[in-house]
Amino acid sequence: MLLKKIENILNDQIEKEGYSSNLYLAMASWAEVNGYAGIAVWLYTQAEEEKEHMLKIIHYINERGGHVIVPAFKQPPKEQKNIKNMFEEIFKHEQYISDSINQIVAATIEEKDYTTQSWIQWFVTEQIEEEAQVSEILDKLNLLGENNLYLFDRDIIAMRKSGGESEK
Ligand code: FEO
Repeated sequence: MLLKKIENILNDQIEKEGYSSNLYLAMASWAEVNGYAGIAVWLYTQAEEEKEHMLKIIHYINERGGHVIVPAFKQPPKEQKNIKNMFEEIFKHEQYISDSINQIVAATIEEKDYTTQSWIQWFVTEQIEEEAQVSEILDKLNLLGENNLYLFDRDIIAMRKSGGESEK
């Protein structure tokens, strides 16, 4: 049985993962209508992954005797300034999510919930990979510059991480 405090903090994370999914969907849609087909594919795939993260938490809470509250999600922005700024925003957002996961780890230690502490490690590893991947994308964007976005749009699909997706 999950402690109420742990159930609540995991419920909050459901909102954050679901919002991440919607945020990347909105960004994908913006990229798609602005002619960045490769970037759009990357973002749609990312949105799916975030939805899977949300589902992973939903199932965990329910399987441990809790009952998930599906939250309302705030609307993500429709427009983006440009590609580089968008990926900077994604990087900041993933750092915020990593911080949030770390707070869950801290809560499980405080409450001596070692089962959840062990389970949440998957997310800790996933966040390391996500931050590394977006950081790599930003490096590439800086290298190519604003005038070579066509090349970037073509190459981004090959930059999708290979690990972390098998263990869902
Ligand atoms: Fe599931 Fe990228 O946070």
